[in-house]
Amino acid sequence: MGAVLWILLLCLWAATGVQGEDPYLFFEWNITYGTAAPLGVPQQVILINGQFPGPNINSTTNNNIVINMFNNLDEPFLITWSGIQHRKNSWQDGVAGTNCPIAPGTNYTYHFQVKDQIGSYIYYPALGMQRGAGGFGGLRVNSRLLIPVPYADPADDYTVILNDWWTKSHSTLKKILDSGRSIGRPAGVLINGKVAKGDGKDEPLFTMEPGKTYKYRICNTGLKTSLNFRIQGHKMLLVEMEGSHTVQNSYESLDVHVSQCYAVLVTADQTPKDYYMVASTRFQRKEMTTTGIIRYTNGKGPASPELPPAPVGWAWSLNQFRTFRWNLTASAARPNPQGSYHYGAINITRTIKLANSASKVNGKLRYAINGVSHVDTPTPLKLAEYFQIPDKVFKYNVIGDEPSSSNQEVIRQPIVLNMTFRTFIEIIFENHETAIQSWHLDGYSFFAVAIEAGTWTPEKRKNYNLLDAVSRHTIQVFPKSWAAILLTFDNAGMWNIRSEIWERHYLGQQLYASVISPARSLRDEYNIPDYALLCGDVVNLPKPPPYTI
Ligand SMILES: *[C@@H]1O[C@H](CO)[C@@H](O)[C@H](O)[C@H]1NC(C)=O
Ligand SMILES: *[C@@H]1O[C@H](CO)[C@@H](O)[C@H](O)[C@H]1NC(C)=O
Ligand SMILES: *[C@@H]1O[C@H](CO)[C@@H](O)[C@H](O)[C@H]1NC(C)=O
Ligand SMILES: *[C@@H]1O[C@H](CO)[C@@H](O)[C@H](O)[C@H]1NC(C)=O
Ligand SMILES: *[C@@H]1O[C@H](CO)[C@@H](O)[C@H](O)[C@H]1NC(C)=O
Ligand SMILES: *[C@@H]1O[C@H](CO)[C@@H](O)[C@H](O)[C@H]1NC(C)=O
Repeated sequence: MGAVLWILLLCLWAATGVQGEDPYLFFEWNITYGTAAPLGVPQQVILINGQFPGPNINSTTNNNIVINMFNNLDEPFLITWSGIQHRKNSWQDGVAGTNCPIAPGTNYTYHFQVKDQIGSYIYYPALGMQRGAGGFGGLRVNSRLLIPVPYADPADDYTVILNDWWTKSHSTLKKILDSGRSIGRPAGVLINGKVAKGDGKDEPLFTMEPGKTYKYRICNTGLKTSLNFRIQGHKMLLVEMEGSHTVQNSYESLDVHVSQCYAVLVTADQTPKDYYMVASTRFQRKEMTTTGIIRYTNGKGPASPELPPAPVGWAWSLNQFRTFRWNLTASAARPNPQGSYHYGAINITRTIKLANSASKVNGKLRYAINGVSHVDTPTPLKLAEYFQIPDKVFKYNVIGDEPSSSNQEVIRQPIVLNMTFRTFIEIIFENHETAIQSWHLDGYSFFAVAIEAGTWTPEKRKNYNLLDAVSRHTIQVFPKSWAAILLTFDNAGMWNIRSEIWERHYLGQQLYASVISPARSLRDEYNIPDYALLCGDVVNLPKPPPYTI
């Protein structure tokens, strides 16, 4: 084959962001409004192909996923794939800093490949407060037959979507935030979009055959509330979280903070009857509890009304975090094949401290990081950078690596931090507030090496778990506490680091990490796809020279 043709083929491959030889999964998603009454009050929800929550994506390592999404809402829409790493491909991340929104009445096709990140993920709407109306669901990445997972095949594989819920529409929630106030507490909690009535007539959410073992993937797609999950009379054997196989400990209950996912095995080894699965709000003065039914196939009799209690206080949750360990001998693929496996031996080249704060700017509630509250730009940051007009759209590094003094006035600007390609970086999330935080990083998984109460100092590094911390993409930070993560910034692109507490996210507690490969090589990053939507200042601009091999 001639060199030119070869280069052309490579460009074609790189332009689509999908690899030819691997299997494809095609989906058509129709995004519409609908009516549902999960708490008994009919209200507007966002449906995907008529479903609330949205459909599960069931994929296998290396599958190419192609989703043609039709936006039939009356406002712009984007979905983001939380925890899917999109290697070299922030073009498909689906957040305001990387993608132009899908205009109402139009469609856009996401193309991405799921790599060796066997595990449990979620997707959800990225814009405004749409996430509070639905449009979310589960995404599984199964292991190829070649890669054994460290447990026997379960009899079935169930997805449990937990979320806090408001009876106000997403537009009303947005209006409340735009007017400068908090959305306050939820009206209730849902399990797979429902609440069991407990009147003996509830349909089961899941069934189990006696003696068999099932996998449950438990994820929190809510707006702000940490939820404790448990199953009456049954223990849960933790096997995976956010793409990493864990040491298999048994738990009575799990705290699932916003946007986290856990996979557990549950054996149907109790008296055959119905059992409640229970989700309760945490860290909220008035606890709210919701149930759903699990039925034994040969079951006789209703679930006992006596629900196992939720734990109290956040120290319990911190202790639970400390029991999570990566299974170093599990033979499944490593989430971070780029050499950060012995992450404890790598020298840290930069420490970035990100401190969240709440304050009023011109009388309105804003959330900030190191004194700056992020604002989205009409031109996505990634497009501004790619088309080489960043100066027209944003300034790099408007925050420093150290939090500003707390009496400094908060300003509102897009936040983009430059990360030097392939450097090993330590990020400390400092929470001086009394509200729990949940932080997430797109495009990567990181080693969650510590969460502690108090204030971080360099001496705290001796408390890090430098051996078997779980590699994941979301980490909670308790009140007046800090969390430390380590990672290699080896995935070129523009990546969102955000609060998953969605009102904080909407009101500015997020930023972007710009990771540029100086080589401008297709080995490091794909070119912008031909079909990418353009908006803002890059419409009609000539495309810059494409990346080459
Ligand atoms: C999406 O659903 C709406 C409402 O049911 C329907 O009118 C429309 O034709 C559907 N669009 C597609 C592309 O399926
Ligand atoms: C998910 O995909 C796997 C692998 O192709 C398959 O074995 C399994 O039956 C699928 N599960 C569902 C619920 O479709
Ligand atoms: C929109 O959908 C049509 C019909 O399925 C498809 O041919 C087209 O490629 C889609 N457009 C985009 C931008 O994905
Ligand atoms: C780790 O995974 C291996 C299989 O790869 C399994 O045999 C072992 O039990 C797991 N270890 C723990 C502590 O869960
Ligand atoms: C890390 O830094 C130490 C001290 O500066 C140095 O001796 C060591 O070689 C470095 N290790 C690696 C893996 O670069
Ligand atoms: C950040 O990246 C931009 C674009 O590559 C570059 O112009 C700028 O010098 C970088 N700034 C820092 C502080 O690295």
